[in-house]
Formats: sequence, structure tokens, C-alpha cells
Amino acid sequence: MTDALGLPMTVPAPGLPAHVTIYEVGARDGLQNEKGVVPVEVKAEFLGRLADAGLTTLEATSFVHPKWVPQLADAAELVKLLDRRPGVDYPVLVPNDRGLDRAIEAGLDHVAVFASATETFAGKNLNRTLDSQFAMFEPVVKRALDEGMSVRAYVSMAFGDPWEGAVDPAQVAAVGRRLVEMGCWQLSLGDTIGTGTPGHAEAVIDACVAAAVPVDQLAVHFHDTYGQALANTLAALRRGVTTVDASTGGLGGCPYAKSATGNLATEDLVWMLDGLGIEHGANLEALVGTSVWMAEQLGRPSPSRVVKALSGG
Ligand code: HMG
Ligand code: MG
Repeated sequence: MTDALGLPMTVPAPGLPAHVTIYEVGARDGLQNEKGVVPVEVKAEFLGRLADAGLTTLEATSFVHPKWVPQLADAAELVKLLDRRPGVDYPVLVPNDRGLDRAIEAGLDHVAVFASATETFAGKNLNRTLDSQFAMFEPVVKRALDEGMSVRAYVSMAFGDPWEGAVDPAQVAAVGRRLVEMGCWQLSLGDTIGTGTPGHAEAVIDACVAAAVPVDQLAVHFHDTYGQALANTLAALRRGVTTVDASTGGLGGCPYAKSATGNLATEDLVWMLDGLGIEHGANLEALVGTSVWMAEQLGRPSPSRVVKALSGG
């Protein structure tokens, strides 16, 4: 590792937060798009390694319809196998009441609903209209809160949609505002197909803030399809966002969005945060080791530049 050489050199820049929370989505977003189903024991070991690497928020899986996402049909079994660590949160995706029932049965405390900013993707991903998705989420959020759970919300297609093209930031903010009004504590802005650029990231964040979604309730979720994820993240940090979604090894995608590729790689994010002197709590060497191990399980190398550079791959 280059650590011993003092690299990356730490050079703080003004206008950035002192600490960033990494919201790790590798086990969920990362593995939902795999061609094959990753064995449940491998998933459990992946999550164990991520906790060992110091990550404290690990989105573990989804309680969605198993026919819609067969890759995560083993959600209940995975939760049973998990060696749940104190101080680590294991949120899961739940789209509806049935999903919430299953998350409660599994003994989980943190769930996330996932909305669409566009009509077409609401249909393709949720089998709902843009408007009727809220009727599906409302009872889920209410009951989860009554159960003492925390509920995060995503807004997908926040930066562009492969069927509809450009998406108005005001539309993203309006969808996000409704989810925050329901009681979701955090809103993650999803660049599902990775077409956003830094000025665009600022515009979407500004639109949310203008719609009365406080910046400290925002998170960003950039897929790296066009190589913009890290630049967009820096723009979001400058706007005051302090939670960044990332996927170890840069795994990821969405089975219902053509042209969605991997998420921002956690290792690439950590390299940048280290260079900027921003605290994050993760151990880069352990993350890279995990990605090298996972690449062996999946039979292909990690797309992360930092993993490649540090593993000699
Ligand atoms: P539907 O077909 O409209 O469901 O699908 P339904 O409500 O009509 O129910 C039909 C049957 O499915 C019923 O069974 C239900 O019990 C069952 P029957 O009575 O016919 O025997 N069912 C379920 N079974 C297990 N678990 C459940 C469940 N729900 C219903 N939760 C539904 C609607 C929302 C369920 C479906 O569209 C679905 O599962 N979609 C999930 C798609 C998905 O997971 N996409 C990937 C995640 S989103 C993403 O990746 C983007 C993100 O990363 C951010 C970004 O990048 O932008 C988050
Ligand atoms: Mg995603």
C-alpha cells in the first residue's frame, strides 16, 4: 500500500465537511445486478468483511418481490446468517407492506423506500404510476416509524432517465419533499444511470433545499457510468452534503434501468477523502482486500481505479 509513503498526501480544501458518513450499498445495489446469484454465505462474509473494514452503515439486501430481483431472493436467509456487529446499521430496501412485514420478521431496525422521479421508471421498477407510488410508501413509512424503525428514502432517476431524458430538478425536489413529509429521515438522490455532472449535482441539491428539504437530510447516490461520480460527490460535499452512498469495488446497477452500471467505488471515495483530510472511519487496505476477494468470487476484476492501483491489478 502507498500509505507507508504518505500517499495520498493530505491537503485539506476549504468549504468541505470534517466528517463524511459512507453509506455502503455494495451488498444490495452491488449484488442485485449480478448475472448469477451470489451464494448467501459469500454475501454474509462480504458484509462481515465490510464491517471489519470500519464501515458502519451496510445496506444488506432488499425485501422486494423475489421474482423481480431473484439475486436478492435469499434476503431472510442472509439476515439470519449475518454476524451483526454492535455499532453497525444494516438497512434494507422495502417497497411495500409485504416487504416491511418481512423486514420486521427478520428483526431489522432500518429500512429504505425507493421512489422514482419519473413516470416511466415508477412503472418499470415498482409497477406503479408516479403518483400511486406514494400510496404504496405511505403506510410503510407510517408503520415502520410506529415500530420505532428509521426510514430512509431514495429518489431514483434524479439526474436523467433512459426513457424520458432530462429530469427537472424541481420534479426531483417535489418527489423528495413528499417522502420527507411522510417522515423519512434521509433522502438519497439517485443518479441511477450516472449521467449527472457537478453543476447538475449542485442544481438538484439546491432545488431540494429550496423545497424545504434540509441539506443535512440529503445523501447522494452516484452511479459511475460516465465517470462523473467522484466529481459529483465533491460538488455535493461543497454544498454541505455529508452522507455519500458508495459500493465497495464499484459493484452495482439496477436490473430495471438499462445503462445503469456500478456505483461510486468506496475505495475511490476513501482515497479522495483521505487526500482532503476528511474523516470517514474506513480502512482502505481492508476495503481493497475485500474487493480483491469479491472479484475472485465473481470471476472478474473490480472496476475501481483505486482497487486496480493498490492491488497491482
Ligand atoms: P407488483 O407485482 O405490483 O406487486 O410488484 P403486488 O403488490 O401486485 O403483489 C403481487 C404479489 O407479489 C403478491 O403475491 C404479493 O404478496 C407479492 P400473491 O398475493 O399474488 O401471491 N409481493 C411480495 N412478495 C415478497 N416481498 C415483497 C412483495 N411485494 C409483493 N416485498 C413490487 C410491486 C414493488 C413488489 C415490485 O415492483 C418490486 O418488487 N420491485 C422492486 C424492484 C427493485 O428492487 N429494483 C431495484 C432496487 S431500486 C434501485 O436499485 C435504485 C437505487 O439504487 C437508487 C438509484 O440508483 O437511483 C435504490
Ligand atoms: Mg443505485
